[in-house]
Amino acid sequence: MRALRVNSLTEDLSGVELAEIPNPLRKPGEVLVTIHAASLNFPDLLMTRGAYQFKPEPPFISGLEFAGEVIDADPGSGFSPGDRVMGGNKTGGFAEFASVGAQKLSHIPDGISFAQAAAMGAAYSTAYTGLVELCGLKAGQWVLVTGASGGVSLAAIDLAKALGARVIAATGSPRKQAMIEARSRADHVISTDGRYRECVSEITGGALCDIVFDPVGGDVFDESTRCVRFGGNLIVVGFTSGRIAEIATNIPLIKGFSIVGLRAGEYARHFPERGKAIQAEIAMLAEAGAISPAIDRVLPLTRWREGFEAMANRELVGKVVFEPGV
Ligand SMILES: NC(=O)c1ccc[n+]([C@@H]2O[C@H](COP(=O)([O-])OP(=O)(O)OC[C@H]3O[C@@H](n4cnc5c(N)ncnc54)[C@H](OP(=O)(O)O)[C@@H]3O)[C@@H](O)[C@H]2O)c1
Repeated sequence: MRALRVNSLTEDLSGVELAEIPNPLRKPGEVLVTIHAASLNFPDLLMTRGAYQFKPEPPFISGLEFAGEVIDADPGSGFSPGDRVMGGNKTGGFAEFASVGAQKLSHIPDGISFAQAAAMGAAYSTAYTGLVELCGLKAGQWVLVTGASGGVSLAAIDLAKALGARVIAATGSPRKQAMIEARSRADHVISTDGRYRECVSEITGGALCDIVFDPVGGDVFDESTRCVRFGGNLIVVGFTSGRIAEIATNIPLIKGFSIVGLRAGEYARHFPERGKAIQAEIAMLAEAGAISPAIDRVLPLTRWREGFEAMANRELVGKVVFEPGV
């Protein structure tokens, strides 16, 4: 089968190649899937550099999430040939086939395409775990989402709006502002260049935000600490800026807010029942048409480099989806 293999860890993707490798063999407990769509996540890019917290030893097949059709599964596993499924396994998604543990898959909600399903899983479960599960998002609250053009951030904006929140999307790429306005339901789109606390204060009538969802870190995190209200939550989602911010502990004390560490995948592994409930809630919202992932482009896997480079160069507004069979 065709698969995107990381042969060595490099900064410039030179250690990555599209290779012909043997098809996976299904082990007991696993489900064999033909992959129709697989979406690119920031950790996929980091893993080609050895810069993600999970560091698989090369060679490994890239791709942490996919959607496809079941070919073979154990009787009683909950899956049968022909079922439409979505899921992932940290690696192995950018390939024509994958064999993964049944617990790592779920059925695709009705009316959702393979591309949408592949683009939804990690982004929406991250957004849901952070906003709803950990911070108890309520209708009417103000939410600030930074790195607004990213896959996870657009999911957070979409989900927060679906649940009745008021959303400020903040981007560090001013040229993307109009595209974010067009592709998201954010109430306001602002720039994270320089100091934006005054802008957030003006929009919220001085109240500031109940929740800040920050996948960027660095200077954006620093300024975001000034945008969260007393009693609010600042969610640490990631560090796309490349700098892990530091904060003096007297700041959350004096300002009375909480800093919330988010690890969505780990949360679902620690609390499997909650993980399943989160998936079910997302599926219900998707089936009802209340949420829908923003997809920047769908590419054949042969054009993998274009997708990875667009992410590295910060060109995207939404997800990249690869089609391995094309
Ligand atoms: N905590 C968790 O459980 C969890 C789960 C999944 C992912 N994540 C993390 O979430 C983050 C986003 O992932 P993603 O897949 O959404 O990535 P993505 O689609 O590439 O989006 C990242 C966004 O961050 C901003 N950005 C990128 N490079 C930057 C830079 N050098 N300086 C400042 N801002 C930059 C850009 O937004 P603008 O141009 O609009 O500013 C970009 O669109 C990653 O750090 C990932 O590891 C965390």
